[in-house]
Amino acid sequence: MRLLVTGGCGFIGTNFIYAMLGRHDDLTVVNCDKLTYAGNRANLAPLEARGDGRYHFVRADIADPAAMAAILAQYRIDAVVNFAAESHVDRSIADPEPFIATNVRGAQNLVHCAMQAGVPRYVHVSTDEVYGSLGPDDPAFTETTPLDPSSPYSASKAAADLLVGAYWKTYGYPAVITRCSNNYGPWQFPEKLIPLMISLARQDKPLPLYGDGTNVRDWIHVADHCRGVELALFKGRPGAVYNFGGGAELPNITVVRTILAALGKPESLITFVKDRPGHDRRYAMDHSLAARELGFAPEYDFARGIEQTLAWYADNQPWVAAIHSGEYRRFMDSWYKDRS
Ligand code: NAD
Ligand code: DAU
Repeated sequence: MRLLVTGGCGFIGTNFIYAMLGRHDDLTVVNCDKLTYAGNRANLAPLEARGDGRYHFVRADIADPAAMAAILAQYRIDAVVNFAAESHVDRSIADPEPFIATNVRGAQNLVHCAMQAGVPRYVHVSTDEVYGSLGPDDPAFTETTPLDPSSPYSASKAAADLLVGAYWKTYGYPAVITRCSNNYGPWQFPEKLIPLMISLARQDKPLPLYGDGTNVRDWIHVADHCRGVELALFKGRPGAVYNFGGGAELPNITVVRTILAALGKPESLITFVKDRPGHDRRYAMDHSLAARELGFAPEYDFARGIEQTLAWYADNQPWVAAIHSGEYRRFMDSWYKDRS
């Protein structure tokens, strides 16, 4: 199989490419990434260095029709997994435009080009955030829960889901959509809760918790999400939507306390700051459809997953330090200065 992975230099894409090449000897991966602030080509440098022809990198924008058509033709791609996105909710609040450009126009362009090129397998990677927010006693989201996004990020992802779904309903293009809960693990950019808190705690800096810290997320280790996307690629029903979750619903403050305890740091580092506008209270995923149809089951519990993640960040300090500069610093300074 010649697989096009878009957004492969980001957090989940990097994990996915390593996992797929590790598990499938007959696979070639073409990684197409625009290399935004969140994309790091060096994540996959060991694969480039191998030079065995099973991994190719192309810098391009999924919203560029000529570039996407050229890649699909040149590499005779027979499957696409689209991870490419602007992914940070806070950035979407500060400036929604790039989210529309990539998550909506880019997602539509890519599925359109893949259909025109006759690519027979297509997975569009989406998020639980398209469903909006749950109350404390609501049942978990299912694939038929109405879309009710809150942020410009989640609205852009919901728009893409509707467009990809329309390619199935209108043209019969057999795309599959996956929706996953909050990922954590190696290579996550330190603007997201878990790597940010690990990084700040290690430096004995204040840990900014939004609101009262009791918002709940359903945490899944990135390896389990990658396994789910792989199953959807090989076994997904054309036109289907599949939810993936980790079965680890936790309030943010519990996550942060776990990190502090593991690092031997005091809880006095926790600082409650002004809430994120439109902050969803709770996410929880019912992944019984993926369990039944794909055989999906998360393998990591949170205790093991966070231990592995803490160890990875401890062992990869230069990776984190390289990010703590330039554009990253500018966004973090401007976003958090208004929150204390
Ligand atoms: P990320 O921000 O770490 O990486 C995104 C990657 O996409 C980067 O390498 C970036 O350079 C690339 N990219 C951005 N715009 C592009 C464009 N126009 N063309 C080509 N490449 C582009 O994101 P992530 O956390 O790895 O998320 C990957 C996907 O999974 C996204 O679609 C996201 O919505 C979805 N998702 C993420 C989570 C999570 O918890 N992180 C959960 C569910 C779903
Ligand atoms: O649910 C899936 C989504 O998870 C993905 O679609 C997104 O791409 C991904 O970024 C993530 O979105 P969240 O907004 O849930 O993740 P984030 O890490 O930004 O925040 C997690 C929780 O922690 C949320 O309730 C907000 C809170 N938070 C976050 C930051 C960055 C804080 O309290 N303080 C912070 O500084």
